[in-house]
Amino acid sequence: MRTAIISDIHANLPALETVLADIAGAGVDRIYCLGDVIGYGPQPRECLQLSQKFEVNLLGNHEEAVLFDPIGFNPRAKAAVEWTKQQLMSSDRPREENASLWKHLDSMKQTHEEGDIFLAHGTPREPTREYLFVQDCKDDPAKVNELFESYGPSTAFVGHTHVAGIFAEGPRFITPKEVDGKYQLGSGNSIINVGSVGQPRDGDPRASYVIVEQDQVEFRRIAYPIEETMRRFKRTPLPENLALRLTEGR
Ligand SMILES: [Fe+2]
Repeated sequence: MRTAIISDIHANLPALETVLADIAGAGVDRIYCLGDVIGYGPQPRECLQLSQKFEVNLLGNHEEAVLFDPIGFNPRAKAAVEWTKQQLMSSDRPREENASLWKHLDSMKQTHEEGDIFLAHGTPREPTREYLFVQDCKDDPAKVNELFESYGPSTAFVGHTHVAGIFAEGPRFITPKEVDGKYQLGSGNSIINVGSVGQPRDGDPRASYVIVEQDQVEFRRIAYPIEETMRRFKRTPLPENLALRLTEGR
């Protein structure tokens, strides 16, 4: 069974379509999404519609912000949340279509456990709130060790920071490059960040996701037409810096 695990699409439809085409060509059986399908980007409706076909959809902090209240968001992110909300309630679209999008948002769960893997958006113990940063391995190793103990299976997959890589015992952070894009599970606990489809922040603007098959995790980076996403930003009142950061992968 080959499973694609994707996260943090952030309403970037050209990035999502390019990743889905790559997935279709990679003999994948199912797609699991770790949340933040929406927020920041120009096409929340289209991305949510495509995500309705995924086998697992977890709640991200941006879905939570749209459903409840945008807690811990800066003013710019808050404004993007409000705009996204309006898009999902658009009176130009059929009422049933809006209702199905909200029902879909409402159905997203916080975590998913299956065999030897555990899935969450942020961290296993605080699925939509907590960040696990690369520097935590140095600055707060106790936190990383606590996180390893906070869920049952030995491997967890997360998103949220938009930085792909492996948190392994030590704790230490291993970049996908260090392992040539392929990581073998089974040697102790690990928390794997799949990176972001629609707003990577590790200096590489290409979309990031992983394919898992048995004990093997393959990190993939896919170039997509960023200019197209930028053009679509221009048709919205969303702040320009949200479009510009895509070109730098920051
Ligand atoms: Fe995110």
